[in-house]
Amino acid sequence: MDKIVIEGGCRLRGEVAVSGAKNAALPLIAASLLTEEEVFLENVPQLGDVRTMLHLLIRMGVKAETPDPHSVSLRAEGLNAWEAPYEMVKTMRASILVLGPLLARWGRGRVSLPGGCSIGSRPINLHLMGFERMGARIRLREGYVEAESERLHGSHILFDISTVTGTENLMMAACLAEGETILENAAREPEVVDLAQLLISMGAKIEGAGSRRIAIEGVKDLKGARRRIIPDRIEAGTLMVAAGITKGDVFVREAIPEHMPIFIEKLKEAGLGIEIENGGIRARMDRRPRPVNIKTLPYPGFATDMQAQMMVLASVGQGRSTISETVFENRFLHINELMRMGANIRVEGSTAIIQGVPELSGAPVMATDLRASACLVLAGLAAQGITSISRVYHLDRGYEGIERKLSALGARIERVPE
Ligand code: EPU
Repeated sequence: MDKIVIEGGCRLRGEVAVSGAKNAALPLIAASLLTEEEVFLENVPQLGDVRTMLHLLIRMGVKAETPDPHSVSLRAEGLNAWEAPYEMVKTMRASILVLGPLLARWGRGRVSLPGGCSIGSRPINLHLMGFERMGARIRLREGYVEAESERLHGSHILFDISTVTGTENLMMAACLAEGETILENAAREPEVVDLAQLLISMGAKIEGAGSRRIAIEGVKDLKGARRRIIPDRIEAGTLMVAAGITKGDVFVREAIPEHMPIFIEKLKEAGLGIEIENGGIRARMDRRPRPVNIKTLPYPGFATDMQAQMMVLASVGQGRSTISETVFENRFLHINELMRMGANIRVEGSTAIIQGVPELSGAPVMATDLRASACLVLAGLAAQGITSISRVYHLDRGYEGIERKLSALGARIERVPE
């Protein structure tokens, strides 16, 4: 297994391009199951999770071609399996996104129940409640969700918690259901909107994506379409923090400010200079960060996927910051590793209280999940001395060529086989 080794203390400077969004690519790939025609996706990031989703579809019988490393052509003419097996779901929970399309077009699907994961218990009860409301029969057997139905019917579905993949799964299912489906308290993330745009270009009738209420009028079938996946706002944000934490000056090409409004406000509060320029965002910093108070919330609130990265900035800030995690119950696993690097953090319930220190020191650390890995990379960039991060497969699930991008900005970072 590879390690990432970083010698900290370099100011990052220059220009870097953001890859396509992982959390948009996954549902858009799953959406190809809804039509027998070709779905062609561009700006597909080369990531572990994307490869897992493509393997899952290929295993079911979808024909996938990659004319270039960042494009994929998908054609789901006929399937020979309607299942997401345990071995795949356990490596990627987003595999559940195939269930909506399978039910809607084939009337059947079997998906291993994702268990808890390192950041929380993450149930899928809201996905299943929605499918049942649309007429599916759901059974839980031998660790699998087995779902079947005749044609799904439209329904009025109210989410008590905003769920991103839940909204996406039910929106996909509703596209081929009979009649109208209303999703209330729907997730408003840009990735939900990207999926809706693809579905609309496939012939779906969807209104309100990006708002709390999405209305979907089912159609008989969908056609093929082509779409360029939106840039990854979490990768963009991570790179902006990298500029801030190294007192650098980085232009993050393709970053879309409208996708990260609160995040940008918080960076400004921390003292970063943020300039929205043509085609991207410039982030720079010339001092120690000011303290910030943050609470993670569904979009447009501060993204939980940026919480760990922001904690590194607060760790080297001047004064006391607080970060409350309200979306997942166990997303503080990075704190112990940060403390091993000299951070001063205390946890009270779901709030981390961070007393900034002048500098972190390099250490061997272990990644526990995707965003925790990104946080440790950032900490390594800011620290004095050498940081080596093991279990980097977490990082490869969601960041394309991160060490290549950071070293082009002047970081001393390399991947070494362990
Ligand atoms: N929840 C339920 N029941 C459900 C579904 C969700 O109680 O049926 C709860 C969850 O346990 C959690 C909250 O609702 O407390 C929000 O979870 P959500 O369903 O929105 O999360 P998700 O769809 O499983 C996506 C992203 C995550 C991101 C979250 C929150 C994808 C593939 N994954 O997960 O991304 O953290 O939304 O924004 O879109 C990551 O990229 O590192 C990552 C974990």
